[in-house]
Amino acid sequence: LDTGLIPVRLIRSIAEMQNASAGLHAAGKRIGFVPTMGALHEGHLSLIRLARQETDEVVTSVFVNPTQFAPTEDFERYPRNLERDAGLAAGAGSSIIFAPERHDIYPEPFLTAVELKGMDEVLEGKSRPGHFRGVATVVLKLLNIVVPNTVVFGQKDAQQVVVIRRMISDLNLTVRMLVAPTVRESDGLAMSSRNAYLTPEQRCEAPVLFAALQEAVQRIGAGAHDAPAIIAAMTTMITQRSAGIIDYISIADNGTLQEVSTLKPGSTVLLSLAVRFGATRLIDNVVVQVKEKD
Ligand code: PAF
Repeated sequence: LDTGLIPVRLIRSIAEMQNASAGLHAAGKRIGFVPTMGALHEGHLSLIRLARQETDEVVTSVFVNPTQFAPTEDFERYPRNLERDAGLAAGAGSSIIFAPERHDIYPEPFLTAVELKGMDEVLEGKSRPGHFRGVATVVLKLLNIVVPNTVVFGQKDAQQVVVIRRMISDLNLTVRMLVAPTVRESDGLAMSSRNAYLTPEQRCEAPVLFAALQEAVQRIGAGAHDAPAIIAAMTTMITQRSAGIIDYISIADNGTLQEVSTLKPGSTVLLSLAVRFGATRLIDNVVVQVKEKD
């Protein structure tokens, strides 16, 4: 594939990807892997750069996974531009783009799924039934095809990180998982392929997600420990500063994703939220280490 200066190999067939991976392992190369659905932005590129720092060859997969979209979601209109994605991935240090076909990944009838108990009932799972089953299943398939030493995910999708970490542990996968911090626009808005759907007015209001998270972090730093009160303050900020409709605001244990009502000193909590701007649903999160008692 011609991406300007950087040579990058585009692989579409599963067998060819498996062969390429076996060849790299035989040559003693460490393989890094960044699974994506394309529409690459600076957030994805930071994952590729981290994978490149940690390994010798980086495979980026581009596959818009139908099983993680609900029928009402944006599968059909999800942005697709493989040439552009390949150029960007190559520029960030990826030497192989794996872009399989839907019918090769999911030959009919496809019977197997990976499901993590309880994950479809909390946070993103609640409003996106079956989403994490789709994510876990495709990630396991991609890991089995690419056979990387290291796989990199972004903290932006916090629940996905928890789900994949747990799947790796529960199923005894040997891959090493790294998590890269969320990349933000200068006004704090977390980078996301879905930001492109925002109207100019919605785009102006969208940084309120991160502002509300920062408000919570500041309150927790100052000793606040009552989760409902912190959530109430975040709700007020969002409703006053934007027309966004809050889907959820959560303060949960970062390992189990169970909601907490009182923040315990020394614990690590995940502050996360989802807000709708018209048809566009944005998510963001921060992980907070609650101070030990002085
Ligand atoms: O984070 C994503 O883009 C997707 O959920 C992933 C991990 C590529 C699986 O389809």
